[in-house]
Order: sequence, then C-alpha cells, then structure tokens
Amino acid sequence: MNRKDAHIHFALQQSSQTNDFDLIRIKSNTFPEIAIENIDLSISLFNRVFPTPIYLNAMTGGSDQAKVLNERFARLAHHFQLPMATGSVSAALKDASLASTFTIIRQHYPDGFIIANLGAGQSVDHAKRAVALLQANAFQIHVNAVQEAIMPEGEKDYRGWLKGIQDLQTNLPVPLIIKEVGFGMDHRALQQLKQIGVTYVDLAGKGGTNFAVIENQRRSEPFHSLNGWGLSTVESLLEAQHVSGINYFASGGIRNPLDVIKALALGAKAVGLSGYFLHLVSQHSHEESVAIFSQFMLELKTIMLVLGVSKIASLTKIPLIFEQTLVNYRQQIK
Ligand code: FNR
Repeated sequence: MNRKDAHIHFALQQSSQTNDFDLIRIKSNTFPEIAIENIDLSISLFNRVFPTPIYLNAMTGGSDQAKVLNERFARLAHHFQLPMATGSVSAALKDASLASTFTIIRQHYPDGFIIANLGAGQSVDHAKRAVALLQANAFQIHVNAVQEAIMPEGEKDYRGWLKGIQDLQTNLPVPLIIKEVGFGMDHRALQQLKQIGVTYVDLAGKGGTNFAVIENQRRSEPFHSLNGWGLSTVESLLEAQHVSGINYFASGGIRNPLDVIKALALGAKAVGLSGYFLHLVSQHSHEESVAIFSQFMLELKTIMLVLGVSKIASLTKIPLIFEQTLVNYRQQIK
C-alpha cells in the first residue's frame, strides 16, 4: 500500500477518544438574554468573511483513493463554504500524473478558499508551483519532525526549517500558515515563528488523529514509547496565550461542536477538523454528510444560544473551569 493510502487506512482505524477538551467545562448562563436569530457564526479572516469558524484541514492527495476522498471533501466544503486545505502537494510536484488527485478539489469548489500544503524544508519555487496548481488562496507548511522521525522513509535532517519558513514568509504571494500535524507547539516554537514574521499558526495538537501511532504501524520495529508524544491542542492553546501577535487556529482532536466552542474560547480564530471529516465522508453519502454536518452547525449555534453569546469573537469571554491537570500545566508554562 502506498504511503497516502496507508495514512488513510490507519487514520480510519482510529476512533474518537477522550482528550484534553474533556478537562474543560463551561459555566452555564441562567439568563442568556438572546434569541437564536441574533447568533452569527461568521468570522473574518484573510480579508474575507466565512460563514462558520470551521475549516476542513489538510489530509490527502496523490493516489486514486485520495482523489475520490478529495472530491467528497471538496463537495462538502463547497456546500458549507468552508475553507479547505489539501494534503501535501509534494507528490504532484514530483509526478505530474498525480496532479488531478489534487486539482479535483478546485474542480468541485471553484470559488473556494483553498489552502495548499507542503512539508517544511521546501523551496519557495516549489511552494509557488503548489499555489499555482491549486490557484490556492493561502499556503500551509506542515512542521512534522516527530512524524518524520518515526516514518520509516522519513526525513531525519531538520536543519534549515526556520530559514526556509522565513523565505516563504517573505516571498509567497498568498498568506502563509505554519501547522503541526498532531503534536502541538509550545511558546518557544511560537516565539521563534513570531521572530521570523509568521502571523498565522495552526497549533494542530495531540488528542485526535495520532501520527506517531500511524507511522509506527508502518514500521517493522516500532518506536512505541513515542505513541503519546506531543502537546495537546488545549495545552498548545494555553501556550499560545503567552505569545501575542499571531493569529491562532486550533486543530487536532476536535470531535464535536462543544470542542469547537472550547477552542474558540481559548483564543483560536478558527478551528480545523481532519479525522472528523475523513470518517464522515468515508461512512456516508454526500447527502447524509450534509445532513449530519448541518446538525453539527445547529448544535454549535445552540451552544452559543444557551451561553448568550451572539458573535464568535465574544466566546473568549465565557467562563471556563479547568480540571487540576490543566491548572498544573498552565502553571508550568515558561
Ligand atoms: C493528515 N494530516 C496532514 N497534515 C498536513 O499538514 N499535511 C498532510 O499531508 C496531512 N496528511 C494527513 C492524512 C490523513 C489521512 C489525516 C487524517 C491527516 C494531519 C491533519 O491535518 C491534522 O493535523 C491531524 O489529523 C490532527 O487533526 P484531527 O484529525 O485530530 O482533526
């Protein structure tokens, strides 16, 4: 099985589990003093208005199966006008015959906000080719040292990543987003990114799809002790509160509308889902997926209703209660 198909196969075997979002509760509001028609889920980002704070995060491309999935993702993202990130476009830059497994996204979502994706260490030229291929509106660079370390054929030389990101930040024609792939980031990394001018970071923490486990499943001699590596998305959001001046996106382990609300309450500007959408479109027809995700959106709106919060940006003011584990974590940042 090629790597792209193996990632899909093993990611689909993982099921949603408990994670750090369960260590946060939200205080109820006895007098919400609001009506459902007052609630506005839209957000402003990249000089655009999006109808919801949710985006479909980077997954796939580069195989027949990936092409089928990308078509399903694009149709769903189109229906809800969600920004959509592609999987790493690297395969299509090396082999032009794979381009259609990515461009199918543009075909089904011609007016979409599409985010092209490549790994760290890529040249500005490669990134510009990836942007051109997708007519991308923004660009993600994934920083995935832990995944590469466990991946049998992975990169084991991480020198020059920050310099490469700095070059992209200066030279790319579209906004640059730096993202992890499920291991989160701490304030030191965020400070390093801030110093080189990065203004958009997708924290992509632990708690959902686990790429240490996936790459270990692809190894004949697994590095089992790394299966629990990383900072959770919640921990990463707490770290991010110490580094201002960056627009943070939260992803990794977002399972339901309540997780979305909690991530936004912790300061995320938007929230990305990968595993959720992978399971959704793999198990359901387009029509069923639309119905299920419509229910998700209604539930999101309903939580805002009972909280008495009319705008996404106001969610940072809602009172949260942290379990002791998170209180301890917060005390040890820095
Ligand atoms: C991913 N992810 C990913 N990320 C990235 O930046 N480039 C990529 O090519 C891929 N490929 C990929 C394949 C598959 C099958 C999955 C499920 C995921 C990682 C993804 O964007 C995200 O960071 C993690 O999956 C954690 O989020 P969830 O799945 O817990 O919502």
